[in-house]
Amino acid sequence: MTNHLFTSFDINGAVAKNRFGVAPMTRVNATEDGRATEVMARYYERFARGGFGTVITEGIYTDQAFSQGYIHQPGIADDAQARAWKQVVSAIKAHGALAVAQIMHAGAISQGNRFRDGTVGPSTIQPKGRQMTFYYGKDAYAVPAAISDEQIAEAIAGFGTAAERAREIAGFDAIEIHGANGYLLDQFLTDYTNAREDRWGGDVRARLEVTLAVFREVRAKIGATTALGVRISQGKVNDFHHKWKGGEADAEIVFGSLADAGADFIHVTEFEAWKPAFGETGPTLAALAKKHAPKAVILANGSLHDAERASELAAAGTDIVTLGRGALASPDLPNRLTEGRPLNDFDPVILGPIANIKESELAL
Ligand SMILES: Cc1cc2nc3c(=O)[nH]c(=O)nc-3n(C[C@H](O)[C@H](O)[C@H](O)COP(=O)(O)O)c2cc1C
Repeated sequence: MTNHLFTSFDINGAVAKNRFGVAPMTRVNATEDGRATEVMARYYERFARGGFGTVITEGIYTDQAFSQGYIHQPGIADDAQARAWKQVVSAIKAHGALAVAQIMHAGAISQGNRFRDGTVGPSTIQPKGRQMTFYYGKDAYAVPAAISDEQIAEAIAGFGTAAERAREIAGFDAIEIHGANGYLLDQFLTDYTNAREDRWGGDVRARLEVTLAVFREVRAKIGATTALGVRISQGKVNDFHHKWKGGEADAEIVFGSLADAGADFIHVTEFEAWKPAFGETGPTLAALAKKHAPKAVILANGSLHDAERASELAAAGTDIVTLGRGALASPDLPNRLTEGRPLNDFDPVILGPIANIKESELAL
């Protein structure tokens, strides 16, 4: 059943040796000025050595304005930060895995930024929920200022130059634009955080426009032959159970527009990726992505550490499954499956009290 997961495939010229990927996970282990560290290189290397064919980094901030979300989050906002990623990329590639940079702008849910005071979001609406303590947060989120047209242009340009550095200086194989989980691009997409009446607000297509503008900018910077994709979700770090109001019609617009833009891959994430995306029955979000973006490689994420579930999704058209907690528990999960060894259970203690990389993990 799992054999299919061990076949290779191609994402716009980047060849993954199997269909197991590590999901992006912020571990706040960079230096204070946002450079990736040797500990991070060792941490990421374990996944590649353990058989994962694709390793996606944690969300990397893109500019020296409002993109940074967390203290000790790594950035790629200047050349020194980009050079610091080289050790991570070469550690991943040394074991034949693809190195994918996830680039992100935290927007209104930033809880630590050394470049700017205050936050920006689509509209002056206080984010739901509370800051994450395991990323050094406390209290409620600040009410953001409504991001100006000029600042939107700056944010879009930041994604472009960040991607260019990721490709040219750090040597990443592919770029993932973080359009999910409640961060800036998802704040634009989400009805209740985007009350704009200009071209960045309105119906679903209009609310997706900033993501598409980022996509076009990054594509222009990295060229047609570098694999480029977007991560999309309904749920958010600060609103776990959110569902798109328009259901499957919204999915058609979101995934169809990304397909039209030329996305090489789409990475969908749900809490339990095998469940219907809307209501009690119907297709998964991954199946909807495949349906409306048939040429894109589909990555699916969400409680897929159970090999049977992962195989089910793969049989239904998902090209690659990505694991978060499952990869933390068993950084060598693909090798364990090949060798018939049991998997470890995820222990949340790893992520507390701060979500930084623990010495015990490096021994796994
Ligand atoms: C500690 C931690 C950090 C995360 N950081 C990110 C991130 O930087 N970017 C992102 O897109 N998702 C992030 N996620 C979400 C994961 O990529 C994934 O969607 C989530 O863990 C569910 O997948 P799982 O059931 O395989 O764990 C994070 C998850 C965890 C547990």
